[in-house]
Amino acid sequence: MSLELRDAAIAASKMAHSPYSKVNVGSALLTESGEIISGCNIENSSFGGTVCAERVAMWKAVSEGNLKWSSIYVYTKEGWSPCGFCRQVMVEFAPKNLKIIIGNEKGVETEHLLEDLLPLAFSPKDMN
Ligand code: THU
Repeated sequence: MSLELRDAAIAASKMAHSPYSKVNVGSALLTESGEIISGCNIENSSFGGTVCAERVAMWKAVSEGNLKWSSIYVYTKEGWSPCGFCRQVMVEFAPKNLKIIIGNEKGVETEHLLEDLLPLAFSPKDMN
């Protein structure tokens, strides 16, 4: 499954709209039902309009009513780690044990739990 996720993330990275940073990011979210939902980074000439690949994948999933996630793969040639905004969006929807897999072009992969990448997170529970 990890290979399928990696392939989906790599395929998504090829769809990136990144004329400014020239970095192509691909993300692939695995749902509990086994569906893979992917996303790429989409930049905007007004830089604040840029959205990361992970958030595109997550928002696609949410907008399709697909709210049970087990892992998310993030692919860049360099093996970039998900940004703080994306981690916060993960906390909004995913369990603490969401598996985050970071992969690079050499095939090096590291696996992390959401709770380790965003410890002491402010979460929906705090709003109750
Ligand atoms: N980017 C992502 O897609 N995901 C991240 O977690 C880090 C950053 C994108 C946003 C922008 O298009 C480019 O990488 C440089 O920041």
